This record gives sequence, C-alpha cells and structure tokens, in this order.
Amino acid sequence: MKVINIVGARPNFIKVAPLHRAFSCYKDIESIIVHTGQHYDFQMSGVFFEQLHLPEPAHFLGINNGSHAQQTAGIMLEFEKVLVVEKPDLVLVVGDVNSTLASALVAVKMHIPVAHVEAGLRSGDRKMPEEINRIMTDAIADQLFVTEHSGVSNLLKENIPSAKIHFVGNVMIDSLLYCLNDHRFNAILKNLNSRQPDYILLTLHRPANVDKPRVLSEIVEMIRKLAGLMKVIFPVHPRTLRNFEMHGLLSYLRKIENLEMIGPQGYVEFLALIKGSRLVITDSGGIQEETTFLQVPCITLRESTERPVTVEVGTNHLLPDWNVETVYDLAKQTLYQAIKRGQIPELWDGNAAERIVTILREKYINSYVCDDK
Ligand code: UD1
Ligand code: UDP
Repeated sequence: MKVINIVGARPNFIKVAPLHRAFSCYKDIESIIVHTGQHYDFQMSGVFFEQLHLPEPAHFLGINNGSHAQQTAGIMLEFEKVLVVEKPDLVLVVGDVNSTLASALVAVKMHIPVAHVEAGLRSGDRKMPEEINRIMTDAIADQLFVTEHSGVSNLLKENIPSAKIHFVGNVMIDSLLYCLNDHRFNAILKNLNSRQPDYILLTLHRPANVDKPRVLSEIVEMIRKLAGLMKVIFPVHPRTLRNFEMHGLLSYLRKIENLEMIGPQGYVEFLALIKGSRLVITDSGGIQEETTFLQVPCITLRESTERPVTVEVGTNHLLPDWNVETVYDLAKQTLYQAIKRGQIPELWDGNAAERIVTILREKYINSYVCDDK
C-alpha cells in the first residue's frame, strides 16, 4: 500500500511524524510525505523535520502566502499532478489547515481513499477558517480518526456513519512524548529553569486576535500589564510579527521591560518552554492539548474551543470576550491562588499513531503483522 501524508503548516509536521514512523514499520507500506509549502521558514518547517526525524518530502508543492482561495486552489492544482504520478492507495491528512482540505478534496475526486486524523473537532464558530476546513474535510473523508469523545458526537450529529469513526487518541501526544525522551529536552529545560525560573509563556496567531488593529493594540496593553506581574516570554508567529510591524507596534513592544520577544521556536525548545512555565496564555489549538498533557495552567484567548476536553478535564481556561483586565485578573488568580489540577484525557498515551495504522491496515491491506516487530 502506498500512502501519501500531507503536511503544510507547523502543527501538521508534529502530527504526521508519528504516523510516518508507524507506517514505516511495515514492509508492505510505502509512506511518503508531500509538503504543500504553506509554511516555509526554517523555524516554521525545516526544524520540525530535523527534530522529529521526518524524511525529506517526496514532493514540495511550493504554495505559500496568498489568500485562502489562492492557497487552496494552488495546492489543489499542484497536488493533482502528484496524484497522477504517484497513484497512492491512500491519502492521509491531519488537522484543519488549508493544506488539509485542499488535498483531501483533490484525492476524493480522484477516488483515492482519504484518512483524516484529528477529525470531528468543532468550535461552532464558522468565522474561523479552520472550522470550515474541518467540516468540509470530515464530510468527504473515508476514515475519521478522533482525539476526544466530543469529536465522535459531533460527527454523529453531522450524520457521518459510525463505521467511519475511530476514537484513537491524540498523535500530538505521541510526538510530545517522543521529544520528552530527547536528551536535548532535559538539558534545555534545566538551562531555562536556572536562567528564568518564573515566566508566563505567550503565543498568539489567530486572525481574530492578530489581524484587527484594535485587538492588536489591546494585546500590546495586555502584555505590558502581564509583564508587570511576571516575566513574559513571547515566541512570535510570522503572521503576528507582520501585523505588529504593519501597525507600528514593534518599537513600543520592544520597550516593555520584562518582555522577551523571540522568534518561532523549534519543537523541543518550545515544549521545554511550556514545561518550565508558570502559565501559558495562547490562542493555539495544539498548545491547549500540550498544556493539558503537561498539566501546566493555560488561558485560551478565544471565543470557543474545538478541544473542550482540555477545559473539562485539563488545565485549560477558556476566556471568551477577553480584555486586558479579565486576562490580568485570571492570570493573577491562576498564578497565585486557585491552580486547576488537570487530568490527562483518555487515550492520550503516545500510541495513537499505532492504533491508526492498525485500523488502516485492517481496512486497506487486511493484514495484522508488523514485519519489523
Ligand atoms: C495557518 C493555519 C492555522 C494554523 C497555523 C499554524 C489556515 C487557514 N491557517 O495559519 O489554522 O493554526 O497555520 O501556525 O490554514 N508566514 C511566514 N513564514 C512561514 C509561514 C507563514 O512568514 O513560514 C507568514 C506569511 O506572511 C503568511 C502568513 O504568515 O502570509 C500566514 O500564513 P498562513 O499559513 O496563511 O496562515 P497562518 O496564520 O500561519
Ligand atoms: N510550536 C513550536 N514553536 C513555537 C510555537 C509553537 O514548536 O514557537 C508548536 C507547539 O508545541 C504546537 C504547535 O507548534 O505543537 C502548535 O502550532 P500553532 O499554534 O502554530 O498551530 P495550531 O495548533 O493553533 O493550529
């Protein structure tokens, strides 16, 4: 069986790495990577290939920047050519980015089975481009692999047949555990702890937060106030940096004492930053899951979350309709008073990729033997 794994944006590399490893343990599976090019800076792409030991992509589509339509259409045009040449038996897509939907759409129209990993998540907010990508991808995929129970009920509500739905756990945690065992992780964490024992880790990149000048100014004020409470370490996403620059806010930010603005971090470095932090403030999807697993308090600056388990059983606090004062008050409370002690969600155990590959073998190869085991 030949499998094409699609990657494009930062979180995709993290999700596909354990899947590619699990596929590669079978001699009768050929697993290749196709990189759409959606993320392209070394710190947004190459560093994840290095740290997660992903092979060079077999094809690089070179589609970056542009509007949603340009990105989606560009990937579709280029990926169709790849499918004509490679003739895979299965296309595997992960997550909810434009690369996910664009490649799933091309594959189903060529009658190639599609597996969607991290299916069923719903924020209920159709203004998020990711929500549209999730709904559309789940509607056309053949096999849907789900990380938390809410995903199963969401898919059933959308009349997806239950035979297509598989509750398997979370491949993000497979990668997290893989890197926790990397000898560099402990060295980085030790160094960080001795240099900076107390800090808040901040990441922001959702258009709802960083594309509107009014909200962006509110963010700058929020950072100034938080930095009065505790050191803030802020690895800045390229979208966010571009918007700070465009609205002339960078020089103001650089003057804030107790704020360390840094570029996008490698995955091992970033996991150490989470683990070493007193509190994470974010609008990321994946970071809500990582803080839950690492049991680090997290405040999510969004109206809704497609990952409700991180709030229900994990350490995540959703802060809808946030402003400087509500973030500051909740941060203070989380740091100095009530610590929400979280639990790790069911099947977030490091073996999700193996479960997925076992199911795919049953469906498409009908053989249960791992040649290398
Ligand atoms: C994308 C995903 C989002 C995901 C995020 C992960 C969609 C619709 N959005 O958002 O769901 O949470 O990735 O980080 O698919 N840029 C660079 N260098 C890079 C990559 C991007 O400079 O390596 C800049 C470019 O100016 C680009 C902008 O960031 O135009 C936005 O990139 P894009 O991939 O369109 O969206 P993200 O905000 O990264
Ligand atoms: N991440 C990283 N370096 C950073 C910021 C994030 O390695 O500087 C990792 C993080 O650990 C998580 C993933 O990138 O696994 C999340 O990506 P992002 O927040 O960009 O996307 P989302 O999950 O919101 O789609």
